[in-house]
Amino acid sequence: MHLNGPPSQTIRARRSVRNYSPEDISPDLLQQLGEACADTTRSPFGETASFQIIEKPFKRGEPVKLGNYGLQRNPRYFFVGTISESPTALLGYGYLLEHLVLRATELGLGTCWMGYFNPEFFPEVTGDGLTPAIAIVGMKEKTRIGEKIMRAAIKADKRKDWSSLFFDGDFNHPLSDPGEYENPLEMLRLGPSSGNTQCWRIVREPGNVFHFHMRIVKKKYHAAGMHHVDIGIAMAHFELAAREAGLDGEWRVEDPRLALPDVTEYRVSWFPV
Ligand SMILES: Cc1cc2nc3c(=O)[nH]c(=O)nc-3n(C[C@H](O)[C@H](O)[C@H](O)COP(=O)(O)O)c2cc1C
Repeated sequence: MHLNGPPSQTIRARRSVRNYSPEDISPDLLQQLGEACADTTRSPFGETASFQIIEKPFKRGEPVKLGNYGLQRNPRYFFVGTISESPTALLGYGYLLEHLVLRATELGLGTCWMGYFNPEFFPEVTGDGLTPAIAIVGMKEKTRIGEKIMRAAIKADKRKDWSSLFFDGDFNHPLSDPGEYENPLEMLRLGPSSGNTQCWRIVREPGNVFHFHMRIVKKKYHAAGMHHVDIGIAMAHFELAAREAGLDGEWRVEDPRLALPDVTEYRVSWFPV
C-alpha cells in the first residue's frame, strides 16, 4: 500500500483521536479506505493479511470504553484485520495497520489504535488469523477536556530522548551521527505506541544496518503482544521515511547477538540494498 503524499508530513500530522463526530465518512473517502485495505495484504515477512472497515452503531454521544484506557466518543468505523500466524505476525500486523492509519491521516481522518478491544464487538472477523489490535477511523471532532487530561496522564505528546532510544555499535554508546538516517529515526520516534511506552531500542552497525530491539516496558502490554505491534509500527515509519529519502533496504531477522540491557530482546534488522 502506498501513501499519496510525503510520508514524513503525514507522520508529523498524526495524533490519536478519541473524539469523533457522529457524521458519516463520505462514500468517496470510504472507497479510498477500502482500496487501501484491499492493497494491504502482505507483510515484509511474507505473512498474508486481510483488512476491512467495519461500521458499528454505538450509541451517539456516549463515551465507549473499547479498551483498557481512553474513552472513545462516537467511535463508528474501525480498521479490523487478520494476519496469518507466524513468529513475526504481530510485527507484520503493526507494520500493515500503521500504513492504513497513515493513509487515513493523509485523507484528513482521525484514527486511534486500540490494543485492548473487546473481540465480541467484531463477530464479523472470522477465520484462523490473529487480530492483535484494531484502529478506530472517523471524522475528527474538537478535542475535549477529558481527552486532554488523558493525553497529559500518559504524556501522549512526549517522546523519549534520542539518547535513550538510538545507539551506535552497542547499547553503551548513544548514536550521535545518524547521517542520512536522521529523519527515518526521528519519524520512528514520533510513532504511536501502546500506552506511549516507546519500547523501541535501535542499534546501528557499520554500513547503516539498524537492529531493532524491543524493551519490555510494561509486562501487561507485552503479554498482550502490544510491544511486538509497536515494533511493527516503528518499522513502518522508519521504512517510509527512508524510502522517501531514496534509501532502499530490506527487513531480515538476523540477530547480531549484542550484549543486551535488562528486559530487552532482538526483533528485526534493516539492511540497506
Ligand atoms: C498497539 C497500540 C495499542 C493502543 N491501545 C490504545 C487503547 O487501548 N486505548 C487508547 O485510548 N489508546 C491506545 N493507543 C494509542 C496510544 O495511547 C498513543 O499512540 C500514544 O499515547 C501516543 O499518542 P499519539 O498517538 O497521539 O502520538 C494504542 C497505541 C498502540 C500503538
